[in-house]
Amino acid sequence: MYDPCSLSSLGASIKRILHTFNTKKVLLIHGYQSFKDYESVVTDAIAPDILLFRASGFSLYPELEDILNVANTARLEGIDTVIAIGGGTIIDIAKSVSVLWQQEAATMLSLLDTDIDFLEPQRLKLLTIPTTCGTGAEVTPFAVIYDGAAKHSFYGNSLIPQQFIHCPPLAVSLSNEQIAVGAFDTLSQAIESIWSKGSVTASREYAGEAVRLVMDNVDEAVRTRSPKAMTCLMKASFLSGRAIAITKTTGPHALSYPLTRKFSIPHGLAVMITLPYFFLFHDKILNLEDESYPVLRQHLEYILGLLNVKSGRHAFEVLCGLAARINVDISLSAYISAGDLAVLQQCNFNEDRLRNHPVTINRSDIQQIFTSSFDRLSAIA
Ligand SMILES: [Fe+2]
Repeated sequence: MYDPCSLSSLGASIKRILHTFNTKKVLLIHGYQSFKDYESVVTDAIAPDILLFRASGFSLYPELEDILNVANTARLEGIDTVIAIGGGTIIDIAKSVSVLWQQEAATMLSLLDTDIDFLEPQRLKLLTIPTTCGTGAEVTPFAVIYDGAAKHSFYGNSLIPQQFIHCPPLAVSLSNEQIAVGAFDTLSQAIESIWSKGSVTASREYAGEAVRLVMDNVDEAVRTRSPKAMTCLMKASFLSGRAIAITKTTGPHALSYPLTRKFSIPHGLAVMITLPYFFLFHDKILNLEDESYPVLRQHLEYILGLLNVKSGRHAFEVLCGLAARINVDISLSAYISAGDLAVLQQCNFNEDRLRNHPVTINRSDIQQIFTSSFDRLSAIA
C-alpha cells in the first residue's frame, strides 16, 4: 500500500521507525540545498538518548571518496542506523555505506558491477527519505557510483533500504527544472522498463501506473506544486523504482551517463534528451522487419496506449511537446557544441544497459540518435 505522510506527521514517523530499529547511534546523511527548511523536524524526532552524527557536503554524483569518508565515520563512531534525506545522490551514498561500511577502498572497487549479496554483509539499519520525485532509489537494489568518467553500480538485494518515508511537502521547494528533470527520469525509467528484455507482468503494472501518473500530473506540479500533483509524482517515482528493480533500464539510460558525467547535464534531462528518438529508432526497425520482434511490438503498443497515441512518431511528438510545455529544452545542441558531439560519439556506453535493450543498438545507431537530438530538424525531415 502506498502511504505518504504529511509534514506534521513526519517527525512521528521517523520516531516510530527509529524505535523499531532500536537505534542508539544514528548518522544523518543530508544535502545542503533545502535541508535547512525541515532540519528541525528531523533532528527533533531523534530522541535525546540517541547520539546523532552528521555527514553532508558531497559531490553532485556519488563518488568512491564520499562513500569511503562516510563509511569511515560509521566505523569510528559505532553507528547502528543511517538516515538519508535528500535526492538520488544522498540516497545512493547511504545505500552503499549501509552495506559496505566495513570494506576498504580496494574491496569496494573490486565489487563494482557485481552482486554484493555474496558478502552476506552486516548491514546498518537504513531509513531513506527522498526529497525529490525522480529516481525511485528508495526501493531499488542498485547504488550508482562514479569512478573517473565511468558510471558503475553496486547491486544486490541487501542495498534495498529497510524503511523509507515519502513526505511530498519536502519536494515543494524544488525548482521547476528540478521537478521536470525528476519527472523525466521517472517517465524514462518506466517506459524503458516496459520495453526492456526483463519486462514481466508485475513490472509493467508498476511502470504503466508510473507513466500515467507523470503524464497526468507533471504540468500541474510544475505550475502550482499542488499537494495532489506532488504526491502523484512521488508515487510515480516509487513505482518506476519498483519496475526497474525487476527489469533494469535500457538504451536511454546507457546513453545518458556520459552526458551527465562529461557535460554535467542532470540525469533526468540526460535521459529525456534521447528518449523520444528511441521511438523513431524502433519505428524504423519495425517498419523494416515486418513480422519480427512480436514482443517489442506488443510492449510498444502498451506504451502508445499509455501515452494516448497511435504511432512511435506521435509518441515522439508527445514527449517533445511535454518538455516544451514545461519549458525544458531537450535538444542536445542546447547543452553541448558540435565539437563536444564528436567527443560524445567516441565515448563508451554502459554495456549492461545496452544489452538489456530489446533490440541491438550498434555504434552507428547511437551516433544517429545523438545526431538527431542535436539537430532535431534532421530527425523529423
Ligand atoms: Fe534514472
